[in-house]
Amino acid sequence: MANEVTALSIVHTIQDLQQLLTERRQQGLSVGFVPTMGFLHEGHLSLVEQARQQNDVVVMSIFVNPAQFGPGEDFEAYPRDIERDARLATEAGVTILFMPTREEMYPQEGGIRILPGPQAAELCGASRPGHFDGVLKVVLKLFNIVDPDRSYFGLKDAQQLAIIETFIRDFNLRTKIVRVPTVREQDGLAKSSRNVHLTEAERKEAPVIQQALQLGAGLVVEGLSVNDIEQQVADAIVTNSSGSIDYVSLLAYPELTQADATSKEVILACAVKFSKTRLIDNIIIPLKG
Ligand code: PAF
Repeated sequence: MANEVTALSIVHTIQDLQQLLTERRQQGLSVGFVPTMGFLHEGHLSLVEQARQQNDVVVMSIFVNPAQFGPGEDFEAYPRDIERDARLATEAGVTILFMPTREEMYPQEGGIRILPGPQAAELCGASRPGHFDGVLKVVLKLFNIVDPDRSYFGLKDAQQLAIIETFIRDFNLRTKIVRVPTVREQDGLAKSSRNVHLTEAERKEAPVIQQALQLGAGLVVEGLSVNDIEQQVADAIVTNSSGSIDYVSLLAYPELTQADATSKEVILACAVKFSKTRLIDNIIIPLKG
């Protein structure tokens, strides 16, 4: 679909955003939504590109959500560059950029918590207790504020995507979720805002993550046991980099339950810690079932 509205409006309050959206809706325009935490890269821009193709208006939010960071995690250090983000969003064809303050999103601390189900007990949910509670809280708020027809999420955060799809289904939320493939550097490293925190040496080593996952995908197809696959992937990463393993896990996708012969798709996912940053990546492998 052609994007009929092209000039970028930047708004900081819910009221201003909703006023703009009411006007667009009265004109019968559809709304695509790209939620982000900013420090934009080509992964975010590919979400915008897809949103532009399918909607008249593209809303992007930039909000580093404190509720999804645990104590000792990188909330303060999370990279931020609002001016660069606004320029990239304009060039990418975002129609409305919503950049709320913390007070705008959370006028009062505490309040209601949303507890995700068993999908959140695995992978990053196991390493980052409470992380997905915070993701669901902000995502629900953003869905209610924007009321998008379609919302765009990257498969790099495949667990987040799976949990949000369950949330949409379980709570009959109106927006339709669109899955967008991971965008990679030429050497295979998944694009991430956090890559900026890698040292030069770590940046050279980091593509080993995707190479190890590819190796693991081959072993899945060969039919090796889950334990052997996870072990070989972990070994390939630690042998060829200074990264340490947070987890390597093979599960049914999107259920995130134990993979077995009936699984239609499986995810081989890992989190690797370098000196100042923790990177995640995954590969989703279709099975004959
Ligand atoms: O994927 C992210 O950047 C964040 O988790 C999201 C969905 C914007 C919620 O803060």
